[in-house]
Order: sequence, then C-alpha cells, then structure tokens
Amino acid sequence: MLLEQVATGGCQSYLVGCPTTHMAALIDPASGQVDHYLGLAAQHGVRIRYLVDTHTHADHFSATLEMKQMLGVPVVMHALAPAVHADMRLEHGQTLMVGALRFEALHTPGHTRDSMCLFVAGADGGHVFTGDTLLFGGTGRSDLPSGDPEQLYDSLFERLLRLDPATAIHPAHDYKGGQASTIGAEIATNPRLQKRDRAEFVAMMRRLNLSAPTHLTEALRTNMNGGVPMARLLAEATARVPFISLAGLADAVSGRDNDLIVLDVRERDLFGAAHVPGALHLPRGQLELLVNAMLPDPTRRIVTVCEQGKISTLAAATLRTMGFTRVMALDGGMKAWRDAGFPSEGTVWEGGGL
Ligand SMILES: [Fe+2]
Repeated sequence: MLLEQVATGGCQSYLVGCPTTHMAALIDPASGQVDHYLGLAAQHGVRIRYLVDTHTHADHFSATLEMKQMLGVPVVMHALAPAVHADMRLEHGQTLMVGALRFEALHTPGHTRDSMCLFVAGADGGHVFTGDTLLFGGTGRSDLPSGDPEQLYDSLFERLLRLDPATAIHPAHDYKGGQASTIGAEIATNPRLQKRDRAEFVAMMRRLNLSAPTHLTEALRTNMNGGVPMARLLAEATARVPFISLAGLADAVSGRDNDLIVLDVRERDLFGAAHVPGALHLPRGQLELLVNAMLPDPTRRIVTVCEQGKISTLAAATLRTMGFTRVMALDGGMKAWRDAGFPSEGTVWEGGGL
C-alpha cells in the first residue's frame, strides 16, 4: 500500500494508493495543497480516483470540491454529511474499493455527526484513518456544531477501540509533529481514553472549554455549501493579473507616464490622507458601478492600489473580467509605498461627502 502524509499546519491529509492498480484515494485534502497532492500522485504513478472527507471540517478548508471539479472524480463522505457536493455517501460498514484496497467505513459520530473512520485491513494489523475522532494522545473536540460527547464515547469505546490493537492510526490532525501510533498504544497511553466510564468521559469533554477555531464560519460555509474561501479567491485573482513593483510605479509616476492611470481603490479617508501623486479614487465597493464613467477607455494602462495589496489584486481581476485588458496591480500597497519612502500626496476635502 502506498501511503503519503501531507501536513498543512496541524492538518493531515493522506494519499493512499494501490500499487497493483495504481488507483488512489486522497483523504482530507486541504485547500492550498492541491498542486502538492497532484505532484505526489504523479511522482508515485497513481491516479486519484476518490476524494474523501472524514467529516465536515470546521477548522480548515477542504479541497474536495475544487479537486472534484478538476479531476472529475467522486467526493466520498458519510451518509449524514450535509455537503451538497458529496457524491458517494457511505453508511457504516460499507466498503470503498480502491483497486485491491478495501476501505471499510466506520461511522464514528461525536466530533461531528457525520464523522467516519476508514479501516484498511492488512497482515500487520492494518491502518485506520481516524479523522478527528481519535488523535495522537487526544480525541477530537465534541463542542462544535453537531458534536456530542456521548456519541464520541460510544464511537471510541464501542467501535474504534475494538479494532486490532496493532492497527496503525492516521488522524486528520497532529499538533505534536511526526508521530506514529496504534490503537493499542492509544488505549494504553492516551490521557482522554483513561476515562473509561461514560459519565466521567462526557464530563471531561464538557469541561474542556476550548476556544472556537479561527475560521469556523468560513470553513463551514466552504465545506458544507461549496463556497470558495477568501484565500482561494485571492490566489485565483493573483494568478490572473500582472503586478508592477513599488519602484516600477515610482519610476512611472516621476516620469509623468501619461498613459498610466493609478487607481486607488481604498475608502475615502485613507485616500484623502495619502495617495500616489496623481492617483484617481474609485473605492472597491463602487468599482463596477462607477468604472464606466471614470475609465471610459478600456485600452489604457491601469494600476490598482490599495492599503495592503490584496483588495487591489481583487479589483484588478474584476477589471480584467470587465474588459480592461491592460490592468495590473501594485505589488504591495500604500503601506509598503509609504514605508519605502516614495512620495505621496493628500487631498483636502471640501465639505460634504462623496
Ligand atoms: Fe474536525
């Protein structure tokens, strides 16, 4: 069995392949690592045939939908998964065939209602991909949407921990780095599993009082409804526009490059405080509505500018979509421009408002 682990922060993804048929499943892929997964599959000479989410992740962005659209292969989740883009919905005990490998779905609710573990038998005791049900030295939390500590107790003690003790575990998170463990080792040493009484275990889980994951609502929006996370929107926009450096823009401005329009897309107060000399002001929020009046010539060279360099990238991508084919974005933003000591000018506003 081919087994490759890819770490993204604390999140773990797994490329699991059949060496005989060269078919592979990709388990818990994360947005931002897509090229890494494709590169690994190519390196090992396997084709990704299934994209698996062990559960609805609340703390990072799944790449299953993005990769499904790219590869045309099914997304596999548990039958209770709310994700609209899940194609194969496994029930407890059902098997996913990946070439000669058999992945048995174990429904293990508790971290989320739709959590499942995938067990692959082997002479060495086999492997189980535990999602966030069982971690190295820990368990998934049970306080996020659809989590339930009572169900987590049952999933662990009545189901997962009954596997062969030699079974290797592969969790969706590893906060401690580079570990390997088995069901038997976790039963013996995992602090959370020492509470073997249901009431004590549930009380312990309820006392954890963990802070909410950083991207909770954005992650659920992405992973349940197929939304696109902000980081991917920005990455896609970045791939579609050329950039001009701070020094390049300074040269153009000082050389009175009359063909170049500097378009500042920040809000009025920031623009008024300091902007690139000669810049026009068109806030991002009004870009599509006012662009025809402000930029009648779509053949002009335009540089979009914002404070940090992100909104200007999105604005440049929007302008390209609208037919401004010579638009570019400033690499950096006004903050970097000021910090580098390039000249700026302010605007005195004459009462009223924009
Ligand atoms: Fe999770």
